[in-house]
Amino acid sequence: MRKKIVAGNWKMNLDYNEGLSLFSEIINMFKDEATGKQQAVICSPFIHLHSIAQLAKGYSNIAVGAQNAHQAESGAYTGEISAKMVKSVGAAYVILGHSERRQYFGESNELLAKKTDTALKNDLTPIFCIGETLQEREANQHFDIIKSQLVEGVFHLGETEFSKLVIAYEPVWAIGTGVTASSAQAQEIHAFIRKEIAAKYNQQVADSTTILYGGSCNPKNAPELFEQPDIDGGLIGGASLKSRDFIDIVKVFN
Ligand code: G3P
Repeated sequence: MRKKIVAGNWKMNLDYNEGLSLFSEIINMFKDEATGKQQAVICSPFIHLHSIAQLAKGYSNIAVGAQNAHQAESGAYTGEISAKMVKSVGAAYVILGHSERRQYFGESNELLAKKTDTALKNDLTPIFCIGETLQEREANQHFDIIKSQLVEGVFHLGETEFSKLVIAYEPVWAIGTGVTASSAQAQEIHAFIRKEIAAKYNQQVADSTTILYGGSCNPKNAPELFEQPDIDGGLIGGASLKSRDFIDIVKVFN
């Protein structure tokens, strides 16, 4: 059985107090309403991480994560945060390769391969994001793009290390746009990703890899998306900023 995960990506939203009160609401609702068949993960800005990790202590089905970490172990990189630092405050996950990092901060597959190595070395679970732009989809290049993001970003890993990853498919054209990939479109790509993992490693690794969908996922469309055989949960942006919406998405797996 693959792990079902609903992860929230708060992006650059919420000041410290706002973040803490949203996280407290999420914990309380999760405790009262979720069965725990799923893992909920909140990926907050760095400044919230230590405090929300403290609040999450004792809840094995709620974890916290960062949205990025540097590829170097430590050193003279003013303003950056290392994977070791992220781990040290109680985070278990780190989002790597989000399309906003690829687009606005020029993160390449090559750089992301290094970030993945460093995150794994520091015992963090990378949520490794891949996905095509609208232009790439319209040019019918989406399968090639997804494949090269996998090959160049994570397929250098050995089987044991690869098995620790969570993959997130986020079509760039669906992020924050209100346009969701149809469940059929998402399933098609998720099945393709799983097939590529099986070809590179083996069927058992492919069958046990959690693959999340991200892009305008909300309480209304989540049930149909999560019902697809190769979709194991979601990476939620906007809807993770509202406790009710986030918990309703989590509860799809109740
Ligand atoms: O990482 C989550 C994401 O990019 C999707 O954002 O706002 O479309 O749910 P959103």
